[in-house]
Amino acid sequence: MDGNGRWASRRLLPRTAGHREGVKNITPVVSAALNSGVRAVTLYAFSSENKNRPKDEVDSLVDLIRKRLKPMTRELLERGARVAFSGDTEYFPDDVRAIMHDIEQERTDANAQVVNIALNYGGRSEIARAAKLASEHGEINEETIEKNLYTAQLPELDMIVRTGGEMRLSNFMLYQAAYSELFFTDTLWPDFSEDELIGMIAEFGKRVRRFGKL
Ligand code: IPE
Ligand code: MG
Repeated sequence: MDGNGRWASRRLLPRTAGHREGVKNITPVVSAALNSGVRAVTLYAFSSENKNRPKDEVDSLVDLIRKRLKPMTRELLERGARVAFSGDTEYFPDDVRAIMHDIEQERTDANAQVVNIALNYGGRSEIARAAKLASEHGEINEETIEKNLYTAQLPELDMIVRTGGEMRLSNFMLYQAAYSELFFTDTLWPDFSEDELIGMIAEFGKRVRRFGKL
């Protein structure tokens, strides 16, 4: 979900106004994704590198999580989705972690669609962590690493969408992205629409995926 800062700057607003606007766009876009039938959607909401932004911005992002996470996920839980988190959530203050815990406990049905929210998430540290956990229980191989990724309970990562015009993964699910179909759009996250997502899902259906085979 990239482009909140630029969305705000273009309107001569502070960056935090862009983050607030971006949060408003999450429930409609995620609902559209769930309506399309996907089994899981991950939101890259706060990367481990985002912590290195100026303290003011980091504080306001954490505060936005504190205030908006529950209202934002309520509609998604009500429609039957389960909410999970990926990342080193120990970083967040206790009250914020308690909110995450409550939301995660709300629904635990293994067959439910999943809305996975990546918070203080970094792909490299996820892989290092998974390798360490795997080594503590025996052999390190693809199977044991996959079992120890945050996404162990999630299906294969089929499709990645990045808004905001940059053409890179920025440490997002580096292991899981091996055969993902990538979609990039110049649209800034607060302007990204359900229709644009639906168009991408239609294009996804037309792509030929060979997974290295002929
Ligand atoms: C993405 O928007 C939201 C978060 C990282 C939390 P940015 O804040 O990166 O917006 P730009 O890239 O400066 O426009
Ligand atoms: Mg950005």
